[in-house]
Amino acid sequence: MQKKWWMTTNIYQIYLRSFNDSNNDGIGDLLGVAEKLSYLKSIGIETIWISPHYDSPMDDNGYDVRDFYSVSSDYGDIKSFKQLIEKARELDMKVLVDLVLNHTSDEHEWFKIAKDPTHPLHHKYHDYYIWQKGKRDADGLMIRPTRWISWFGGPTWDYNEATDEYYLHIFSKKMPDLNWRNEDMKNDMKKIIKYWIDLGIDGFRVDAANHLEKNWDFPDGLPGYENFSSLPKHHEYIKELALELFEPYNLLTLGESGGATKEEVRKYVGFNSHEFNLLIHFGHCWADTGYTEPAITGKWSKTELRVTDIKKSYDHQYQVVGNEGFNLIYWHNHDQPRVVSHYGNTEKYWEKSAKMLAMTLYFMPGTAIVYQGEEIGMTNVLYDDISDFRDVEVFTEYNNMLNNGATKEKALQAIVDRSRDNARTPMQWNSSINGGFSKAEPWIKTNYNYKTINVENQEYDENSILNTYRFILKHRIADAKNIVFGKIEFINIDDNESYCYINKGKDKDYLLIANFRDYEIEISLKDVSLRGFEYFYGDRVSLKETMNLKPYEAILYRRNKA
Ligand code: NOJ
Repeated sequence: MQKKWWMTTNIYQIYLRSFNDSNNDGIGDLLGVAEKLSYLKSIGIETIWISPHYDSPMDDNGYDVRDFYSVSSDYGDIKSFKQLIEKARELDMKVLVDLVLNHTSDEHEWFKIAKDPTHPLHHKYHDYYIWQKGKRDADGLMIRPTRWISWFGGPTWDYNEATDEYYLHIFSKKMPDLNWRNEDMKNDMKKIIKYWIDLGIDGFRVDAANHLEKNWDFPDGLPGYENFSSLPKHHEYIKELALELFEPYNLLTLGESGGATKEEVRKYVGFNSHEFNLLIHFGHCWADTGYTEPAITGKWSKTELRVTDIKKSYDHQYQVVGNEGFNLIYWHNHDQPRVVSHYGNTEKYWEKSAKMLAMTLYFMPGTAIVYQGEEIGMTNVLYDDISDFRDVEVFTEYNNMLNNGATKEKALQAIVDRSRDNARTPMQWNSSINGGFSKAEPWIKTNYNYKTINVENQEYDENSILNTYRFILKHRIADAKNIVFGKIEFINIDDNESYCYINKGKDKDYLLIANFRDYEIEISLKDVSLRGFEYFYGDRVSLKETMNLKPYEAILYRRNKA
């Protein structure tokens, strides 16, 4: 395998709006990120990925782009963007930006022209998007072309009176989908990509990559996801971009694609298939979802945690990718709840479980992404009023739950547990007002616990969650040849309480054993050769064939190869 810089880098995901507000207007910004780069470097981060920084009406916090060529005034301007890049260069850090290819904002110039038949360029831009005429129902009333459901819960089609057509949007109605079969649109997108490359970025996280192609027969279906997800032609679009832009400019690309089949995973990240470098997959993200009641479905329905599902998902990913590509490890991003609330514990075992989660994940092979605030154990937010939420998805989904018969209490509880806003509250830097994020009232309420959970409180405590991350992230780089490039073998993969593996490296092996439960468990290692392993990190317990692990305990052993 040819080694690349991005294999051993530690990536940190920044949700711009909530990271650090340098001009005290209540919204995080690019200079705020620049101010904190040395902090990130000090904890072992070498690459940052920032969420969309483009001009946007912010229906979906920037994933609805109004102008790809300018920076949102919420976040700064092109000058502050360049300053961020410069600061990163000084610190020898890399910068990845989000690339939204599937849709624009409905306020984007292209869409404004596309929906206006009187505009002289209408004909050209109309075809940049996806349009269909309405259908007639049995009573002759006009209905949507299909019953497809958007990822945010409502219908995928909205009506445009001026053309008497419906436009497709698989996310919010303010995010019309682009037509990737249109060569002019594709070429315009390539120019946009080149523009940011020329400004010095090191790569892209490619948003919603598997949705670029649609089923142009528009068959009816409910919810109809198969008509706008993972259709074979989207690989062609990605490959074209990779061959013309991503690869010639030596960029790192992280492609977002949920539910990819084995063949698809290999296409995305296979060294010889020229698409992405790393795949953002979601198999491990909802290991506590299942049926609870009819009105609360999908990710909103919370069940007992299945530790086995997390292990199996990663195991599957490692096996599928094999030596043909490289793996990515992360706990969660801005679209899932906080990991310590989700898979750990927020009460008595908050600190212990956060450290256990860090140890469990970051001694596994692959490139790692840490999500902002994860390194201090930030928790879900526990708002008690629906009006505190900001995410566009929340409101449709909350109403869907009520309309389907859920009580207000149950619907609110589902939102509280699973909303994306959990991961989007302001970063907690210190115990001053708004956790030091901003002197002005933040765009979304700060988590009530910022006085106890913050960076400053943990900075000088050598046993803090923050210093655990610091140790692990730095060690990942220092011993990359054994950890990052290791080969993992899960132990007792069917066990639903523990998480154990050996990561076999070139000259060292790491043995990790962890308890994912809030009670003591017994782990049998009788089928594992324990010879040579010595205590290395975590709770100090000597290694035996049968281990008794206290709640959320994690221990790492290491051995030199003969
Ligand atoms: C995936 C992003 O992670 C999510 O936050 C966004 O809402 C959708 N794509 C639409 O762009």
